[in-house]
Amino acid sequence: MSKHVLITGGAGFIGSHVVRLFVNKYPRYTIVNLDCLTYAGNLANLQDVAGASNYYFEKVNILDAVALNEVFIRYGITDVLHLAAESHVDRSIVSPLDFVYTNVIGTVNLLNVAKENWKSNMDTHRFYHISTDEVYGTLGAEGLFTETTPYSPNSPYSASKASSDHFVRAYHETYHLPTVVSNCSNNYGPYHFPEKLIPLFINNIIHKKPLPVYGDGLYTRDWLFVKDHARAIDLVFHQGKIGETYNVGGFNEWKNIDLVKLLCSLMDEKLNRPAGESAQLITYVKDRPGHDLRYAIDANKINRELGWYPSVTFEEGLSETIDWYLSNGEWLQQVTSGDYQNYYQKMYNPA
Ligand code: NAD
Ligand code: TYD
Repeated sequence: MSKHVLITGGAGFIGSHVVRLFVNKYPRYTIVNLDCLTYAGNLANLQDVAGASNYYFEKVNILDAVALNEVFIRYGITDVLHLAAESHVDRSIVSPLDFVYTNVIGTVNLLNVAKENWKSNMDTHRFYHISTDEVYGTLGAEGLFTETTPYSPNSPYSASKASSDHFVRAYHETYHLPTVVSNCSNNYGPYHFPEKLIPLFINNIIHKKPLPVYGDGLYTRDWLFVKDHARAIDLVFHQGKIGETYNVGGFNEWKNIDLVKLLCSLMDEKLNRPAGESAQLITYVKDRPGHDLRYAIDANKINRELGWYPSVTFEEGLSETIDWYLSNGEWLQQVTSGDYQNYYQKMYNPA
């Protein structure tokens, strides 16, 4: 059946990979990318698919319920993949309300519009909410987050995503909206805005700037290559069971400091710098408030039920990512000019 798929946040990091995958893989679907283009949204992320005949872009804020409804009607939207969000923990610590507006109220707007437009035959539709493992809070040295781990968010970002997940659940239980949710670990890859650890450090290594490691650097994250997340999203969208949650992860835990050292050595090689040069840029800085010690995902359900497993190793994915940044200097230059400089100054060199 031909679907008319609304992808929110499609101009962002993960969204652009999902849009690209869907536009190319499903030529019979109409793909509508809805994004208000915050600092994190960038149409340059989608230049290669912008001219495709099944691709449309709508510059709309998910806080604007009227405009959302118009898009639903204009395209006869049958399905939603909801990725639009404020996504950076450090920004959420500075401006929590921005996260409440977009992540909570924006999501409820979208749920309402879907519910109203689909009420005559809910069953033929699907509302897929893309979320994060950070809703589960933090782990000690042992254990993994499963789909039944109780929510225990610690940052304004994760609290807002947890809230949106709860609303999605409530719309399924109360109104029988056909929802599905996935909670993924930290992504990395091309088109990642250089405020998150990996792209920020790649940019700083290129420019021989200090690498600001928070606290003791012993915090642990599970890392997944973004194209493998997009593949998981494709599977959950088409084959995930309505009302279910799927955890997605890379089976790939790294302490920040070990990851940074690996990144430094890979980049020394690629930039023809003497071994050990970039590691000298490592600088321990003040810790992030409320910093979660460890995230680790049990992704066995999606593996068992949908046959998904990461397709690349961390070294392969990281190498492809570094190569992409080294060959896309113009993109990097564009996103790190202007407001980015103010952000960097305030975040890393406050007066
Ligand atoms: P991102 O910050 O790169 O992109 C977010 C996109 O949403 C941008 O294009 C932005 O313009 C758009 N947007 C923001 N507010 C909007 C609004 N009010 N109306 C319309 N568009 C708006 O984020 P990302 O890293 O690509 O994450 C996408 C989704 O995946 C988010 O929901 C995030 O919580 C989730 N997620 C991210 C990660 C990760 O590691 N990046 C991991 C797990 C889950
Ligand atoms: P980040 O990429 O912001 O993702 P998240 O906080 O959502 O996991 O950060 C990943 C880890 O890297 C986290 O433990 C915080 C740490 N970090 C630094 O040490 N320095 C930095 O400049 C940044 C952005 C993150």
